[in-house]
Amino acid sequence: MKNKINQNRGLKKTIIQVAEVAGYLWQKGWAERNAGNISVNIDQLIDGELDDVNKYPVFELPETYPQLANKYFFVTGTGKRMRDLARAPQKNAIILKITKDAKSYHIISRHKLDEPDLRPTSELPTHLAIHQQIAERGGSEKVIIHTHVNELVALTHSPDMKSKNRVNNIIWGMHPEAMVFIPRGVGFVPYVMPGSVEIANLTLIEFQNHDVVLWEKHGVFAIGESVFDTFDSIDIVSKSAKIWFTCMQAGFEPEGLSESQLQELKAKFASGF
Ligand code: 13P
Ligand code: ZN
Repeated sequence: MKNKINQNRGLKKTIIQVAEVAGYLWQKGWAERNAGNISVNIDQLIDGELDDVNKYPVFELPETYPQLANKYFFVTGTGKRMRDLARAPQKNAIILKITKDAKSYHIISRHKLDEPDLRPTSELPTHLAIHQQIAERGGSEKVIIHTHVNELVALTHSPDMKSKNRVNNIIWGMHPEAMVFIPRGVGFVPYVMPGSVEIANLTLIEFQNHDVVLWEKHGVFAIGESVFDTFDSIDIVSKSAKIWFTCMQAGFEPEGLSESQLQELKAKFASGF
């Protein structure tokens, strides 16, 4: 299996990009211990050569994901560190194939059956639910990143920040790029047990209207077409929160861009940069 991955140039390139971004998450200080996870829909990169899946171990899913039947995903391993992923991505992530009935998955990158520790992220229910939503609407996003951005977690601790309006006024108001690159603003999920189907369902509702979603007192999820685009979205949102805290620490509430300045940006960059 390892050889087949190495021979697949598209897949190899994607894995190298995931490793690069995993390194950024660690360097940013957003990835303490095993914090965060990444998944990539790699279905288009696999040309059928891996179809003999029955020899690989099979695991049950908590839900059924009919739109994802037979699809392949590159998913970071549970308990694995982003800093380790950065230097050895294949040892800290897996490739899985969803079964035909979409109720289970095979880990097809596991070459030895005695590697019990290499399992997909505990946030798999949220990752798969989002990939399924993207497939349902025919979206082109392939990548999902979850990470623990300090300033975004800190922001959601404020009793004042439980409203999406308030959070988005801060995100858009702190620097022009936020309106240009995150025009749909961020979604917000109140605190719920991580790894649960409940948090997956609440997150899905927010991804109907946003490409970046905050999890109260926990972190952020983002979707994008490439690993770099997805990282950039999180980086831009995090920059806003950082500027807001910098001003507050300096003793003043930031003025923020005015409504007319925001509308001007929105009109000029409505169809992208
Ligand atoms: P995993 O190690 O299972 O991916 O969990 C990390 C995390 O951030 C949970 O929310
Ligand atoms: Zn987390």
